[in-house]
Parts: sequence; C-alpha cells; structure tokens
Amino acid sequence: MDLLIKGGTLITPTDSIKADIGVDDGKIVAIGTDIPGKADDVIDAKGKYVFPGAIDSHTHMDMPFMGTVTADDFESGTTCAAYGGVTTLLDFAMQPKDKDFLETLKIWHGKADPKAFIDFGFHVAVTNLTDDLVKQIPEVLKAGVSSFKLFMTYSKGGLFSDDARIYRMLEESKKHGFLVQVHAENDTVLEMLKERYIKAGNTSAEFHAKSRPNFVEAEATHRALALAAATGGNLYVVHMTCMESLAELANTKGFANVYGETCPHYLTLTDEKYLSPKGRRYIMSPPLRSKDDNDALWMGLYDEILSTVATDHCAFNDAQKDVGKDDFTKVPNGAPGTETMVPVLFSEGVRKNRITLNQMVKFTSYNPAKIFGMYPAKGCLNIGSDADIVIFDPKCEMELTAKNLHSKSNYTVFEGMVAKGMPTHTFVRGTPVLYDRKLVGKKGAGKFVSRGKHIPL
Ligand code: URP
Ligand code: ZN
Ligand code: ZN
Repeated sequence: MDLLIKGGTLITPTDSIKADIGVDDGKIVAIGTDIPGKADDVIDAKGKYVFPGAIDSHTHMDMPFMGTVTADDFESGTTCAAYGGVTTLLDFAMQPKDKDFLETLKIWHGKADPKAFIDFGFHVAVTNLTDDLVKQIPEVLKAGVSSFKLFMTYSKGGLFSDDARIYRMLEESKKHGFLVQVHAENDTVLEMLKERYIKAGNTSAEFHAKSRPNFVEAEATHRALALAAATGGNLYVVHMTCMESLAELANTKGFANVYGETCPHYLTLTDEKYLSPKGRRYIMSPPLRSKDDNDALWMGLYDEILSTVATDHCAFNDAQKDVGKDDFTKVPNGAPGTETMVPVLFSEGVRKNRITLNQMVKFTSYNPAKIFGMYPAKGCLNIGSDADIVIFDPKCEMELTAKNLHSKSNYTVFEGMVAKGMPTHTFVRGTPVLYDRKLVGKKGAGKFVSRGKHIPL
C-alpha cells in the first residue's frame, strides 16, 4: 500500500466514522480498523477529520475579464486550492466571441494542463451561442465537459445571453443530459440604475450594491427557473446571495431539476464592507447583501434548498481594482476564495451549528461530484474512488490574511478572520500535494477530469 491514514474520523455526507483508510495506486483500497499489510507512508490522524477532497466548482483562473486578466493563473490558483483542501476545481473556459466551444476548451487546456497542482475540469462560459454551436454540443460532451454557463447580465462586457438562448440550451440539456448554469441578474434594470448613479455623481463602491438590489437577482432567478420548468432542462443557479432568490428556488425545486449554489462571502459578509476605504475589494456580482440574507442562506443550506458551496474565485489585486477608483462600474468584479472556502465553512458554519460537518462535506464534495458528473470517481471516500483525501485539524488555527495565503491577489475578503480548523494534508489521487501544511505537489501533476453526464441529486 502507498499510504495508510490511521486513527482519524472519516466524514461522509451521512456518517462520521472512526476508521483507517488505505490508498494504493491512486485509489482508496481499504477502509477499516485493522487494515492488513504495510504502507510506505503511515499518517497518524488521531483527533483529525478525514474528508473527501473539496471540489470548488466555480473558479476563474487566468481569465480575461473587464479589461484585465484575473490575478491567479492555474499555478497560483491551484496552489491556493491545495492549501485550502480543494482537490478538484472546475474553471470557466470563457468563449472568445470568434471561437467555437472546442477551440475555447483548447485555449483553457493550454492554460491549465502545464500548471495545475490539483485536478481540474472546465465549464464552457458561453458568450455567443449560434445554431452551429448548438450542433457542437455532443462533441463537447465527448471532450469531458458537461456544463455550460450563460450570463443573464454583463451585456456591457459582451457576455450576455438572452432568454431565448437560455431556453434553447435548457432544451438541449434535457436531450443530452448536461447542466446549464446561469449567472442570474436582470441586465437592463441594473444597467439603467448604474447609469443613473454615475450621472448623479454617485461613483463609489457602495453604489455597486445599490445598483444591483435583491430583486434584480431574484427576478432573473425566477425567469431562469421558469425556463427550466417549461423545458424540463437541468438548471444550476450560480452564486445565489439573497432570501428572495432562495424563495424562488424553493418554490421550483419540487417540480423541476434545479440547483442553487452560494459562496462563503455571501454567507459571512455584508454590504457594509462597501463603505470602507477598501470597498472596491468587495465588488463582485451579485454584490454582498444584508445580515438577514446571510442568515437566510445558512438556513437554505441547512434545509438543503441550496445544493453546493463554491467560491467564484476570481482574484484581482488592489492595482487592478483601483482602475475604478472614480467609477465603480470600472472595477473588475470578483475576489479570491478557493483557499479559504473549507476553513470559513468549518469555522463559521459547522462550529456555529449553522450546518453539520456531514453537510459541509455534502455541499463541497459529494453534491458537486454528482451534479457535475464526476461521482463516484470523485466526491466520496469509497473503495475504488480516487484517493482525493484531506486531513483536517480542527485545532489548527490560522489568521486569514494575505500574507498567510497564496493568491496573487494582495488581499482576502476575510482579512482578519481567524479560521479555527485548517487542512493539514491534501492528497490528489493518492499523491501528497499539501503535507503538514507544506506544498509538496508538482506543477502540472493535476489532471483534467473528463466528466460524464449530470447526475440528478
Ligand atoms: O463578480 C464576479 N462574480 N466575478 C466573476 C465572474 C462571474 O460573474 O462569475
Ligand atoms: Zn457570475
Ligand atoms: Zn463566477
């Protein structure tokens, strides 16, 4: 055996079990208390949790966006991921307007294949859906990509898809068994509000949030859900932030195949951040909301109306953000997050009894593995599954501050928060990438995950 992790508590979506776990040739080969045979490496995990590696199903590495390129590429971004207990990330391959889907995936393989420390897959972020591209979908599925994102906003950045295109993709998703993701915000209303604020001289970060109020997100969420129900397609609403959107999702869940994702920052931070001198750091879309919305999202997780937590890791540094110092509409939208997802969820969610530890594993590993067609190779601690394993020490404390983290961004939105519990070891297919909190993995060792069809939960 290559590896034996002894004496830890294995966490699955349903159970917490004291057991050892054996790994050989990249796979989990044994689970039990007296596993026979010798191992090259034996780790004592007494007092620690053993999770299936987290899957961050929402990242933007090395992505051209709003006149700049995100600060983390696949080298720094997957380094962050490894430190954060993430063993697979799914990144958005942004379609250049003049390229087809397969060409887009080739560009993203060029960015990721030589650099990734952990496993990765892609979603196609569709910017220019045509009849010819619809015909290309079966080839995209054969290429191991079974999810497509459409933006209901960003018309100014050329990313917008209209309702008919979303309807069309949802029809196709039913036919072929893939997943349609939407970024749900009402584009024309928010663009009108942005213009109104700027014209009135209201140019600072707080007006980013004011121009994108809850109803802007909830209305678009409702529309996307209605289209999913009408077509019978498979819909996943990314980065949900507020109680009104959550209510829309809850209303539709009983009769349509629909899923919702939220992110750690929407669970823990509020729009007061926009009032600080560093308010630009928190400009992301949709924006941060109120404490009541934070609470509603935790409840949405606990009740399992929401299905996943992912990060929307879209890192920029202050210099990039400062381009919009006199005009919030010019600030590149996004923030880093993949390194802090598990520690924040554990500290703010599990420790504060907002979700259970088993649910945390469900939202960050099991559910994304199923929804995105990777189960049971990923997302569980089953015999025969990839040995994507995290050892997590609930006693290890770390201040979440840029100098302790590994993003090329010079800040974290969680600046100053103390994480009470950190991953100490991250194994990808049995190979250590993080060992005793030291990066030991190899750049380029992460493999592309060829995903199958969407598996309904
Ligand atoms: O502000 C955000 N969310 N930036 C990343 C792009 C997106 O909309 O997901
Ligand atoms: Zn988005
Ligand atoms: Zn995103």
